[in-house]
Amino acid sequence: MEPRDRLATLGREVLGADLSLVIDQDVGLGSEKRPGGGCMKARRWAALLCVSAIAACGCGGPSVAARPANSSPLGDDIQGTVERALAGEWRGAEARQRDVYRHPKETLAFFGLKDAMHVVEISPGSGWYTAILAPVLAPSGRVTVTSGFDELAKHPEIFGHVEVTSSSQFGADGSADMVLTFRNMHNWVGAHSEQEVLARVFAVLKPGGILGLVDHRAKADAVPPGAGGYLREDWVIAQVEKAGLRFVAKSEINANPRDTTDHPKGVWTLPPTYALGDVDRAKYEAIGESDRMTLKFVKP
Ligand SMILES: C[S@@+](CC[C@H](N)C(=O)[O-])C[C@H]1O[C@@H](n2cnc3c(N)ncnc32)[C@H](O)[C@@H]1O
Repeated sequence: MEPRDRLATLGREVLGADLSLVIDQDVGLGSEKRPGGGCMKARRWAALLCVSAIAACGCGGPSVAARPANSSPLGDDIQGTVERALAGEWRGAEARQRDVYRHPKETLAFFGLKDAMHVVEISPGSGWYTAILAPVLAPSGRVTVTSGFDELAKHPEIFGHVEVTSSSQFGADGSADMVLTFRNMHNWVGAHSEQEVLARVFAVLKPGGILGLVDHRAKADAVPPGAGGYLREDWVIAQVEKAGLRFVAKSEINANPRDTTDHPKGVWTLPPTYALGDVDRAKYEAIGESDRMTLKFVKP
């Protein structure tokens, strides 16, 4: 899909406005022009300014004139943009049903996601979080994932701008504003590679850049590092700090007090995996997805 069509689609589906009349206008943001003559970024800004103007005229959005000159037209409404991405039909009913356990809006707000950031998502799996990040960051930010997934090709209008890098090199040193990792740390620990991966996180982040980490949480008195896919929160914090990042804050957004963490097949007993199949399914469905830690770190 052409960038023009992608932006028009995003305008309709994420921002809720028809941008087709403004996308082709080059508003003369000369410094934003690419060396090859492209002015996609200038057009994105034109479109987003238009959306802000539309919002100011009748949708309750803040007025463009009221913003500081260097702020983003979406900056004051990142939560609204995330909400519209959450409702996107490209996510599918199955993905949306997990919002109640994964709390994406609250989690991204806690990590401090901003619309103009360069975000690296590590091991995105099937892209559950990428399907939210990609449209939110498309207009003025950047998304890099460390492995590809099927939906990238199926929905180019959503994922067309997502950059895929390798799991051994997350990107240029000091290039990312934020690194996000969801339900991955326990795999690195299982492979004894957590310090190696965390060193790559440290390298790719800018000074002041944020690491947002969510993973299954073992009980506080479990033998460290944990077992069955669960990790002790204090142990995880210590590992990340050992890699040079500073712990900023934790949140209970993704906590689940119903999860005893003691299951026949570890965390995979619970949804969404249901490793026991139909055995006691109702019981595990009633527990829901695992108890999770939500941790925020900064690169000094
Ligand atoms: C539970 S999924 C999480 C996917 C995604 N982050 C999410 O939360 O929806 C774990 C992902 O890590 C990948 N993985 C498993 N073991 C790994 C390892 N040792 N190193 C890197 N990635 C691994 C799997 O292929 C899978 O995509």
